[in-house]
Amino acid sequence: MMNELSAEKIANMRIDYSLKVFDETHVLANPIEQFKNWFAEAVNTHVNEPNAMTLATVKPNNTPSARIVLLKGFSEKGFTFFTNYDSHKGEQLSLNNHVALVFCWLELQRQVRIEGTVTKLSDKENDEYFYSRPLGSQIGAIASPQSKVITSRHILEQNYSLVENELHLKEPERPLNWGGYMVQPTLIEFWQGRSSRLHDRFEFIKTGDNWVKHRLAP
Ligand SMILES: Cc1cc2nc3c(=O)[nH]c(=O)nc-3n(C[C@H](O)[C@H](O)[C@H](O)COP(=O)(O)O)c2cc1C
Repeated sequence: MMNELSAEKIANMRIDYSLKVFDETHVLANPIEQFKNWFAEAVNTHVNEPNAMTLATVKPNNTPSARIVLLKGFSEKGFTFFTNYDSHKGEQLSLNNHVALVFCWLELQRQVRIEGTVTKLSDKENDEYFYSRPLGSQIGAIASPQSKVITSRHILEQNYSLVENELHLKEPERPLNWGGYMVQPTLIEFWQGRSSRLHDRFEFIKTGDNWVKHRLAP
């Protein structure tokens, strides 16, 4: 029997955040440096999958679509992730390159929001990452027509075995529809949970080559 969760019980689920303060004395002038600090802290605190981020895209009918992907690198240039270019997200990105990313590091009572536009990574960058993955993941990427309707799990397993058998002992080749994107940020917001819902929020907006910072009301 499933434990009864009353509507009231759900409505009363909340935590008063009091773990950390993030104020003008903490926030750095450069949001990428700030992200670097917070990301390192998330890793060192053993946040569960700290590089998991929600990626929101825009569908051709202008409605949003969101899913989680893994961050695979970041620098002043942007934030990278890898996927199948023929997937739903890939098709959406080919028509509209505006995206939003959200990191949620609950163990630290933190959220980071990023908005920007994507560009595809180069073949060289795609190869570098593809061939660094475990063999099983490489074969999985070849075998799975991401986001397409399939009639059963069996199809996937059959595809996987077919690819594996075709390879014999050869190295797999990166499929041309598999690769990465870089999100070039235009907005980055850092959110630290505080008591009584008086959270700390700092938003950075890219203005020319510079970042302009504001504190936002929670
Ligand atoms: C923790 C986690 C990590 C994921 N990482 C990736 C990823 O890095 N790349 C990817 O294509 N899908 C990843 N997925 C699967 C996506 O959420 C999604 O199901 C898939 O990309 C298909 O999305 P689409 O149909 O909107 O294109 C991940 C899912 C979870 C829950």
